[in-house]
Amino acid sequence: MTSKKGFVHMKLEEIKRKNLYRTLKKISLVKGMVIEVDGRRAINFSSNDYLGLSQHPAVLKAAKGKMSQVSQCSSRLLSGSSSDIHALEDKLAEHRNVNSALVYATGYMANIGLLTTLADKDSIIYSDELNHSSIIDGCRLSGASIKVFRHNDISSLRGTIFADRHLMSKRKIIVTEGVFSMNGNIARLYEICKIAKDSNAVTVLDDAHGDFILGHTKEHSGTADLLGVSHLIDVHVSSLSKALGSFGGYVATSHYVRELLINSSKQFIYTSAIPSHLCRAAMAAISVTTQGLRQKRLSKNINYFMEGLKKLGVTTGQFASPIIPIMIGNEVVSTQIARRLLKMGIFIQAIRYPTVRRGRAQLRVSITSEHTIEDLDFAISCLEKVRGKSKFM
Ligand SMILES: Cc1ncc(COP(=O)(O)O)c(C=O)c1O
Repeated sequence: MTSKKGFVHMKLEEIKRKNLYRTLKKISLVKGMVIEVDGRRAINFSSNDYLGLSQHPAVLKAAKGKMSQVSQCSSRLLSGSSSDIHALEDKLAEHRNVNSALVYATGYMANIGLLTTLADKDSIIYSDELNHSSIIDGCRLSGASIKVFRHNDISSLRGTIFADRHLMSKRKIIVTEGVFSMNGNIARLYEICKIAKDSNAVTVLDDAHGDFILGHTKEHSGTADLLGVSHLIDVHVSSLSKALGSFGGYVATSHYVRELLINSSKQFIYTSAIPSHLCRAAMAAISVTTQGLRQKRLSKNINYFMEGLKKLGVTTGQFASPIIPIMIGNEVVSTQIARRLLKMGIFIQAIRYPTVRRGRAQLRVSITSEHTIEDLDFAISCLEKVRGKSKFM
């Protein structure tokens, strides 16, 4: 029998042997796009604050403004359900053009809370193979059968669901991200919604990385808005800690699903409510997003950066989204490159298994509306230099 300590050491050694050991970097300053990482100043290309709203004066003012309590120190069903949360939920329902919304403490909990409530052992969940960990955990905890389809591959989804056509009594749910968090790919929602309609499946869309960024309407309500299929999504999930620069997660859906979540979702019931000042920050951030100016700047920056990478001949994703992957492959090389970039003044993280597949390590570049052309040029020139020294990319 391994000793108590022996187990932990053995696990850590195993992680190290596979070159997957992670350490925390100490962030001592964030000012605009400048970040200090382990004592080194760099331009930040590793944030999900795609519109720079976490530092926007109106958002900061709203968070600090009339703060009388740091936290409600209670769950929603006890004394934590502040009027600020209700106001934010009304706003999010309007943003999504659905009946209602329910705010969770994080997007992670929103996914788990939703999937464990919507699915049970009599359900089948069809899940994209690159879905976020919170979706995977939600699927597993729900007790449903899980069928994973190849990433963004419509024929794989169609084939999988078609093979189950005789399972008429099973409740079917298709779950996908809108903008995929690691490779920036945009889900083929039009086709997914069509398959869902044909097979009477519920559609769940986690659009943490597209929400408030993509879309044709003033609301920028994300990938479904961009692809004109918002009305075909049964349940929207998102995070408030990406484009809104705030904190928390939400589910936007029908009144009845919301009621069921309030009554059944453990991740909603048995945890403290999101603090009110974060809701006020999110509300202020939503007002900024409806002006649309930052999304325009972001789009220009994405195109500029992708064009720069193309000129270098770097292998990257094919979608214009704020998440730009640079394929490396080898885990050790990916962390070496990230370290070299940090020394040069660029903060880009290496992403390794289990976040991406084994042997498919990548750099994950996050572009924001607040990067200047000089920031983007500098990053491209640093990438060119590190590339000169390695055979990868
Ligand atoms: C696709 C996706 N869903 C959910 C989450 C979780 O959101 P949160 O950070 O609010 O917990 C993330 C976070 O990175 C994500 O990328």
